[in-house]
Amino acid sequence: MADVFRILERFKITGRGTVYTIKNNRHDNISIGDILCDLQGNRFRVKGVEMFRRYMKYVDLDEMPLGLMFELLDGVEAKGNILIRSLEDIHFLFCSHPLYPSKVDEEYMGEYQAAGLKYPCALFNYEDMERGKLTLNGEELSGLTIYRGWMMKPDMYRAFYSQLEQRGMILINSPEEYERYHTLPGWYEEFKEYTAESIWENQGSLDNALEMTKGLEGPYIVKDYVKSRKHEWYDACFIKNIADRENAGKIISNFIQRQGTDLVGGIVLRRLEDLKCIGFHEKSGMPLSEEYRIFVYAGKIHILDDYWKNNQSITLSDDERKWIGAIAEKIKSNFVTIDLARRTDGTIIIMELGDGQVSGLQQIKAENFYKRFEICK
Ligand SMILES: Nc1ncnc2c1ncn2[C@@H]1O[C@H](COP(=O)(O)OP(=O)(O)O)[C@@H](O)[C@H]1O
Ligand SMILES: [Mg+2]
Repeated sequence: MADVFRILERFKITGRGTVYTIKNNRHDNISIGDILCDLQGNRFRVKGVEMFRRYMKYVDLDEMPLGLMFELLDGVEAKGNILIRSLEDIHFLFCSHPLYPSKVDEEYMGEYQAAGLKYPCALFNYEDMERGKLTLNGEELSGLTIYRGWMMKPDMYRAFYSQLEQRGMILINSPEEYERYHTLPGWYEEFKEYTAESIWENQGSLDNALEMTKGLEGPYIVKDYVKSRKHEWYDACFIKNIADRENAGKIISNFIQRQGTDLVGGIVLRRLEDLKCIGFHEKSGMPLSEEYRIFVYAGKIHILDDYWKNNQSITLSDDERKWIGAIAEKIKSNFVTIDLARRTDGTIIIMELGDGQVSGLQQIKAENFYKRFEICK
């Protein structure tokens, strides 16, 4: 029994309160009187369960969403879009070491240990999964699962999701949610007023990219739907003046060649923002700006830290934190990252969004990160 209930929709019925529709999993049992909680620990007692008639297009009863009505035991509606039976029912899944399947990938050792202090953890082989095969190792898990590891292309995540689902492990973000925040075209429309103006094509083609540059002027950066080559700033990322076709072509072509088969989606061009510079990267020499990484969990700020520097004091004002909180509430996924940067004029912009499962901790301490899953309330 997975007992992970994904909220599809919620709406108010006069006199009856909010009805939540959830995906009807034939394996899950839900009865009047059951207590569920959201990922922030708010509790709900089920006071009504019905098949949801509004969905007349569904023929198969097993596919028809369930409508649930709740007594709000903590006085608030559900945050995020997942309900589980207890906050203890959270598990973590990491990549195994490529050579030693029963060991964690070295890069994630600190996280694995920190997560293991409180939560059941298991491993899987990333290289096998790249070939479509799920090989699990370690504890047998079932129920709500949070992956922490290397990025996956959306197709790989979809296969990963469904193979885990067959074994009763439900990843926190559905494949649609993953793609929406992992790829720039997925989230751009929703947040474009707060981020660098961007255009893209979907082939990874230099010709298409050059076609897009027509009529543009000034500095830009190039990336794909997910990643830049920021550490090759002057060769494969920063375009000094996009109207200089020859130079723009060289940078974009370097980017495409060096990304190779890792290129995700297509080419994205983003107008360069004038960011507050705080120095240069000690290894790559790329300019560093005042930037923050924020993990959002079930609609709330989970943890926030400076992106580049350890023990840097955070200079976000109360109003800025409120603004971030409001953005976090809008996110239609249970676990994402928001990267912010400060412009020279002092305003804050969104640099990019990402799926929380495949975003690095940057300067955040693993112990603090994992502790936060217990004290969401
Ligand atoms: N439009 C932009 N204006 C100014 N700086 C940018 C812009 N886009 C990216 N950068 C700089 O390059 C870095 C990498 O860009 P980002 O979009 O976050 O790609 P990645 O996914 O590789 O981290 C950012 O952290 C920021 O410092
Ligand atoms: Mg980034």
